[in-house]
Amino acid sequence: MITGRTKLCAVIGDPIEHSLSPCIQNAAFKHLGLDYVYVAFRVRYEDLEWAMRGVRSLGIYGLNVTMPHKIGVIQHLDRLDLEAKLVGAVNTILNDGGVLVGYNTDGLGALKALQEVEGDLRAKKALMIGAGGASRAISFTLAREVRELSILNRTYERAKALAEDVRRTVGGDVRAYRLSDETLRAEMRNTNIIINATPVGMHPNEDETPIPRELLRPDMTVFDLVYNPIETRLLKDAKAVGTKTIDGLTMLVYQGAASFELWTGVKAPVGVMMDAAKEELKRRGVIN
Ligand SMILES: NC(=O)c1ccc[n+]([C@@H]2O[C@H](COP(=O)([O-])OP(=O)(O)OC[C@H]3O[C@@H](n4cnc5c(N)ncnc54)[C@H](OP(=O)(O)O)[C@@H]3O)[C@@H](O)[C@H]2O)c1
Repeated sequence: MITGRTKLCAVIGDPIEHSLSPCIQNAAFKHLGLDYVYVAFRVRYEDLEWAMRGVRSLGIYGLNVTMPHKIGVIQHLDRLDLEAKLVGAVNTILNDGGVLVGYNTDGLGALKALQEVEGDLRAKKALMIGAGGASRAISFTLAREVRELSILNRTYERAKALAEDVRRTVGGDVRAYRLSDETLRAEMRNTNIIINATPVGMHPNEDETPIPRELLRPDMTVFDLVYNPIETRLLKDAKAVGTKTIDGLTMLVYQGAASFELWTGVKAPVGVMMDAAKEELKRRGVIN
């Protein structure tokens, strides 16, 4: 039951109507009997300052931030967690007694999803395709966990700048390459984990894949961040050759689980959150 003591959490973004976060988070609160409720607010780009004043004045306890506010919101916060500072973008805010602290849970969410499948990552080599926002968020976390990280990007300069940033701040064996047939072929040879952090394969280009099927091997894990569709061509190809897979919905749930844990201090019921997301996608006719 919602009472005068119920803690309010929310997601802000534009557009926001299709966000799965309210379903995922409310299912988790309900499952654990926590007195929290989670709603979605459409906040236009130019209204962010007013929305953040509202967060303070209404005492909203936890916030998720999505496009187009992940970078702009930083100037309205009191403190940034190290991860968010490194990445330069925030997706989670905790209102700690009036002090707004910004976090980025994308890296931790991706790491947990990977550890669930791959276990200890210390001996593993990871290959990241893409050097945009999602790649950046994951690279800082992953570089500390794996033996080697290669970042391949269409625009080489972006991969190079990201690899330099990661090496300078968190260290690790991080290399940058221009994305080409040759570099992909060479880098795939001794890779254990592949992450697609590009929109290649996303609706309406569902026939596209960033990695030719013949380069996939059963001893790899393929992680596709794209969640529309959930089973991309890359993941279908990977399953066909017996490769372990992680989809974009899993990433979405794990980063939400990390936000949940920041707000509640309680271990997130990941299975319950995943079921809620799938149920909602079925209701919308997105999956069967
Ligand atoms: N599941 C989740 O929770 C989650 C979270 C975040 C993002 N995502 C997904 O991850 C993907 C990337 O998101 P983002 O926020 O990082 O986007 P972004 O900042 O716009 O970066 C896009 C990246 O993809 C590359 N790229 C774009 N089109 C390409 C193409 N046709 N061929 C090769 N490379 C291409 C870009 O290369 P250039 O630098 O050369 O332009 C850039 O590195 C999106 O599909 C997004 O939906 C999923």
